[in-house]
Amino acid sequence: MEDLEKRLKELDPTRLPQHVAIIMDGNGRWARMRSRERSDGHAEGVNSVTRITRFSSDIGIKYLTLYAFSTENWNRPQAEVDMLMNLIGWTIRRETPDLVANNVKIHLLGETDRLPEDVQQSLYDGVKATAHCTGLNLQLCLSYSSRWEITRAVRELAEKAMRGEINPDRIDEHTVAESLSTRDIPDPDLLIRTGGEERVSNFLLWQIAYSELYFTPVLWPDFDNSVYLDALIDYQRRERRFGKTSDQVKAE
Ligand code: IPE
Ligand code: IPE
Ligand code: MG
Repeated sequence: MEDLEKRLKELDPTRLPQHVAIIMDGNGRWARMRSRERSDGHAEGVNSVTRITRFSSDIGIKYLTLYAFSTENWNRPQAEVDMLMNLIGWTIRRETPDLVANNVKIHLLGETDRLPEDVQQSLYDGVKATAHCTGLNLQLCLSYSSRWEITRAVRELAEKAMRGEINPDRIDEHTVAESLSTRDIPDPDLLIRTGGEERVSNFLLWQIAYSELYFTPVLWPDFDNSVYLDALIDYQRRERRFGKTSDQVKAE
């Protein structure tokens, strides 16, 4: 703990990423290494969610986006899907009072109407209960995939064009960004993936165009504040050039 506080001082509070997105991977392997059920890994993963949300809020991150269940995850064994759905519902019900107390506002990204109705209800209750919160914005991606999101946006734009509400010639990057479920949210500055895999698995493909990527072998249940701090410190050492030269960036 003392060590963590010392290392926190390495962090420049004026250069924090505004938006951190995380692909929370490795729950199954965490359980397997302990000869336990995959469900135990997911349950343990929830503790990391709580911890990282709390820490993000404490240090002043404005947006935290968590990939909790992908469109592709529906293809897992039914028992695991059922377990995950129950866990999501149960967790949101348990955590909502704490989220309110910490001024955290919940947003949902994804095709949530595919979730069991009781889980949807718990999620909407959580969104409603935290709607007035002004601290950390917590985006939970559930039944989310980027291609689903972009496809839906394309369909909406096409329908608007057919109705004559927009002129196709006027569609620009801003129009597209405004059609995505992240319309009110800045793009992620930092994308973290735990669990050792170095891929993006259909997550925020449009939004991560210029994000800094950070991959760690640490499995999600083991992802603690200290590993998170490693990622944040690493992020602050990078120079984001957005296509410009290093000299230009330094002059700005
Ligand atoms: C991430 O952990 C959680 C979800 C995708 C829901 P995994 O369940 O993918 O864990 P591994 O990759 O099998 O270790
Ligand atoms: C990505 O993890 C999805 C989430 C973390 C929710 P997966 O474990 O499903 O990713 P792949 O299939 O290994 O790429
Ligand atoms: Mg995985």
